[in-house]
Amino acid sequence: MTTTLDWTPRAQALTADLRTKNALRSETVAAAIEAVPRHLFIAGHYATGQHTTVDPEQPTDELLRLAYTDRGIMTHTPADDAGGFSSASQPSIVAKTLEAAQLRPGLKVLEIGAGTGWNAALIAHITGANVHTVEASPLVAAEAREALARADSRHVAVHTGDGYLGHPEGGPYDLILVTCGIAGISPAWLDQLAPDGAILAPVAHGGLHPLLRVTRTDADSLVGQLVANADFMNATGPLYAGAATSPATRGQRLPAPAASCARLHPTPGDLDARGSYVDLWMHLAARDARTTCAGAEGTTDYTGCALVDDDIAVFVQPGGLHPAPGPKAQDLADQVAQYVTDWDHEGRPALTAWSCTLAPAGTTEHPLLSPANWSSRERN
Ligand SMILES: C[S@@+](CC[C@H](N)C(=O)[O-])C[C@H]1O[C@@H](n2cnc3c(N)ncnc32)[C@H](O)[C@@H]1O
Repeated sequence: MTTTLDWTPRAQALTADLRTKNALRSETVAAAIEAVPRHLFIAGHYATGQHTTVDPEQPTDELLRLAYTDRGIMTHTPADDAGGFSSASQPSIVAKTLEAAQLRPGLKVLEIGAGTGWNAALIAHITGANVHTVEASPLVAAEAREALARADSRHVAVHTGDGYLGHPEGGPYDLILVTCGIAGISPAWLDQLAPDGAILAPVAHGGLHPLLRVTRTDADSLVGQLVANADFMNATGPLYAGAATSPATRGQRLPAPAASCARLHPTPGDLDARGSYVDLWMHLAARDARTTCAGAEGTTDYTGCALVDDDIAVFVQPGGLHPAPGPKAQDLADQVAQYVTDWDHEGRPALTAWSCTLAPAGTTEHPLLSPANWSSRERN
């Protein structure tokens, strides 16, 4: 006997959870999340470590629990035929991104990184306009098309290709929304952007991928503004090639600090893991390109913000700076302590206080425009 489980109360519980986390602020985005069934976009996952195929049209209680919990769901890895990683992004990240996107009816959107297609369906639900989404993996793109048909989500066209090139045929776009971590903005997108359009992208900075809103100024130069904390899987191809220091050291494991060095230089003890800790992280990233996201060997205790210079590392944790063994790390710790003091004296600028210009980066063959010259409102 087949019973049809009701997913709607679970979607409502999910939006309630996202509201308490402050990821969801508008009725518009909440209504979209409650209207577009996320479970219909999951045909397989790695939630238990190995690949599990599921039938989204006959969802089990387990699938509904997975789909309506605030967690990202890995749907592909390099071990399968997709050729790389793909996921259904964590709902709180999706909500934060859609809130930052300031969507409204009629807005023309290009998404880079279709993944499951759920985010594109949410965008189409809000704008009612055609959404184009570009996906690098042919298998993932095919699955996204199937999922969109299952969910009866109209107005979304999934294109297989490298997002670096965008999709000129569908432009000009009011918004280009990127859902994979990139090292910089593709110049091709600028040609496809409406004059008042914006690019919202998780651009590598300090080893994370905070959301950067890029717009043109009156003088036709580009300005970037950090709008939310986020972290996404890295893009493939030229969007990540030629990455500067911090993406290269992201995820690196370094020798663990000696207990005797712990809290040598205190950081403010009241740092909040989701808020002010990330604000401090962005301050360090703006000040010093050695800022990254790293951890220590054999422990998860120090995973987070770190300044890394070859094998020299200082781990920045709420409550203290932890230099890795060696005198050079102590010198770096002194410098980091000064940055922390400056941040405190400057009134602890928030992540959203930071803006930047965009400077040429990438390779000769595949140029990018990457953040440079960071300044915070408090320091202007
Ligand atoms: C985090 S997933 C996207 C999540 C998705 N938007 C959702 O609805 O949950 C990132 C996707 O970007 C794709 N991707 C990575 N690099 C890309 C590139 N250069 N061009 C287009 N897609 C890319 C990956 O294959 C993956 O499917």
